[in-house]
Amino acid sequence: MEPFRFHLFVCTQQKPEGIPSCPASGSLAVLQTLDGEIQARGLNRDVQLTTCGCMGLCDEGPVMVVYPTGTWYRRVQPSDVSEILGALLRDGRPVERLIWSDAAAMKAMAVEHGEKFRAALAAREKAGTLPDHMDQMIRGYMPSRCLLTALELDVFTAVGDGANAKQIGTKIHANARAVGMLLNALVALRLLSKSGDVYSNTPESARFFVQGSPDNQRDGLLHIANIWHRWSTLTDAVRRGRRVPIDPDHTPEGTHDFIAAMQRNAKDRAPHVVKALGTTGVRRILDLGGGSGAYSIAFAQACPELQCDILDLPEVVPLTAEYVNRAGVSAQVSLRSGDMLRDDFGCGYDIIMLNAICHMFSEEQNQDIFRRAYRALAPNGRLVVQDFILNPDKSGPQHAALFSLNMLVATDSGASYSEVEYTLWMKAAGFAEVSRINLPGPSGLIVGRVK
Ligand SMILES: C[S@@+](CC[C@H](N)C(=O)[O-])C[C@H]1O[C@@H](n2cnc3c(N)ncnc32)[C@H](O)[C@@H]1O
Ligand code: FES
Repeated sequence: MEPFRFHLFVCTQQKPEGIPSCPASGSLAVLQTLDGEIQARGLNRDVQLTTCGCMGLCDEGPVMVVYPTGTWYRRVQPSDVSEILGALLRDGRPVERLIWSDAAAMKAMAVEHGEKFRAALAAREKAGTLPDHMDQMIRGYMPSRCLLTALELDVFTAVGDGANAKQIGTKIHANARAVGMLLNALVALRLLSKSGDVYSNTPESARFFVQGSPDNQRDGLLHIANIWHRWSTLTDAVRRGRRVPIDPDHTPEGTHDFIAAMQRNAKDRAPHVVKALGTTGVRRILDLGGGSGAYSIAFAQACPELQCDILDLPEVVPLTAEYVNRAGVSAQVSLRSGDMLRDDFGCGYDIIMLNAICHMFSEEQNQDIFRRAYRALAPNGRLVVQDFILNPDKSGPQHAALFSLNMLVATDSGASYSEVEYTLWMKAAGFAEVSRINLPGPSGLIVGRVK
């Protein structure tokens, strides 16, 4: 029994540039239009839309197959979507002009494609060719570096409503020829479009990268550009076993970008943390290294009786104050400037939060923080660690394992840690119950409770 009346498959098989494929001929736009039309017609309980891999008709793309009729469509365009859905709902008969009437020729093409594909794989294997996924990993820095440079130079803002390379070069004080090369690469990466010699932002670039857009993320993303310089020292850092100082190591602009980056991640995660921990019986929270204050702000907004104290470094607290004031919760959120490795935490807290903190410090420093947090908690209080938590053998998840290297190049003794380690440290500090809560996304919570 089919769970849906109709099942539509659209090929989205990515292939190397220059090789015919459905995405290269526009299948992603077809997919998006289909999804929109299905929602608009209220058909999401009747029609299941699924992406699929190559069906062997790559020269005839975009290819789409409809079940239960078993209709294979080729060269589908977004403008055909309405007609295809209309015919399907009416009597299930195919849109004749989009099907290949010679079924034998179509099958021959698909079979021949499969044979050629297997022969090409065998030839590459025999020749010792580097697999595509490894090749892409090796060159992955090129698109990344291109976008980071564009963000550093604020290219997307300079593009504005459309401009040529010379105008953009003048605005960003850069060489016109080189700017032209960068702009063309950004077009190739689909981050800009080009008509004649005029470059324009795509809707996504205009939304996320242009100053003045409400969703502009440039400041937070510049932190990744800053980290890029540190990652360039990875080889030396691995040889030496410690980070390699870069010049300048810390700047006020870097701190501003860093806190903007923290806010970018934390504002999405904070509602999940509030939901996971709840506010019942919680009156006082200590937010160690609160950064932009996103977690304290979310707790304060969830419960008007709740008071939060944020402890952060002196150079960060004025930035925290801006976020807290903007959120309108300064009456509930107090800011304390200090050093969590040395300063007294106070006492009587219901929750002490360590959001994205433990990875900055060594095992010994974390154990010391846990011991002092235990003493600062009220009976039944909770210590909450939110971080990228490694598997017991530390070889995954990928994000946590890579982040550990981020800490190698950026901190004196930080690393990602495993649930086993956090649990051991919490128990050693006196916490009676220790549990893990998974969150959507790459980070999780480890919660220790005082009995
Ligand atoms: C990775 S950020 C996390 C910020 C915030 N908790 C979040 O998740 O968005 C680390 C924060 O800890 C602060 N920090 C680092 N070392 C500290 C120290 N010794 N004492 C107090 N705060 C510190 C940083 O300034 C920064 O705000
Ligand atoms: S890539 Fe779509 S059929 Fe081959």
